[in-house]
Amino acid sequence: MNTAHPATPRFGAVWQRATHELQAAGLHFGHGVTTAADEAAWLLIHALGWPLADSFAALDVLLQREVPADAHERFDTLLGERIATRKPVAYVLGEAWLQGERFLVDERVIVPRSLIAELLWDGLDPWLHTQPRHIADICTGSGCLAILAAKRWLGAQVLGSDISADALDVARANVALHALQDRVQLLQSDLLKDLPDNEPGLDLMLCNPPYVNAQSMRALPQEYRHEPELALAGGTDGMDLVRRLLSDASSRLAPQGMLVVEIGHERAHFEAAFPRLPVVWLSTSGGDDAVFLVEAAALRSPA
Ligand SMILES: C[S@@+](CC[C@H](N)C(=O)[O-])C[C@H]1O[C@@H](n2cnc3c(N)ncnc32)[C@H](O)[C@@H]1O
Repeated sequence: MNTAHPATPRFGAVWQRATHELQAAGLHFGHGVTTAADEAAWLLIHALGWPLADSFAALDVLLQREVPADAHERFDTLLGERIATRKPVAYVLGEAWLQGERFLVDERVIVPRSLIAELLWDGLDPWLHTQPRHIADICTGSGCLAILAAKRWLGAQVLGSDISADALDVARANVALHALQDRVQLLQSDLLKDLPDNEPGLDLMLCNPPYVNAQSMRALPQEYRHEPELALAGGTDGMDLVRRLLSDASSRLAPQGMLVVEIGHERAHFEAAFPRLPVVWLSTSGGDDAVFLVEAAALRSPA
């Protein structure tokens, strides 16, 4: 009697095979993780049901762990869906991770990846006059930045606003997931239009608006076409929403408040639109000119 069973595959071998498959499929990797290897690991760890945070504690141990048949099957289904649909992994799994926090996502919101997130812990400290108590996250989408800001500044009230009712439904689920209903409010508003008048004004306004220019929109890889166009398209030069935001923001900011805006690769368009506005470019993993900070005083008296 032949009692030999095929050996249970190890994490390392499955990971390597899947990485090759993702690479060979010619996908785009830009939604939270940026390589085929990272996507394969994320999918595999999810299929195994392991806590993501613990999974990379010891790589040599991880590589040798067994992948049971049921998890292997789940993994192959997820991998197949990623390749066949070209949906970002976050949509395939219904979750995204930003700064170590989990967010629920689906195609009503873009996949959380804002560079502003990495600045929240200490990247803004040199410019903050006080600990912010009143914060707004304009264009909140999944609510990720509003939630991270509330976790960073425990004494703050945070308002997350978006024009999209669908996005706000996702944000509401995330606020509940993080049990922040008492400190994160959500509001439907076209930019600042329906924000409540609040005295003494906002200490900090964050915004990751749609900023992709029309030419870049036409060239976006397939993965981005699963995201809402409303969340990406910023008009001919990408600056449609930034213009409106900058012209209205000062009326909502406290005298010493500040606005932090992500504009991706659009610095040239931004500087053409605002040639004399004094902004501070903040250094992020996406470069030194993807996010800027501007003080309320500068917005009140644009040069
Ligand atoms: C780039 S996404 C940012 C989402 C989220 N803050 C993040 O960083 O993942 C831009 C968001 O702006 C919203 N939006 C588009 N036009 C808007 C407008 N006129 N007023 C308010 N929100 C708008 C979209 O619905 C989308 O959720």
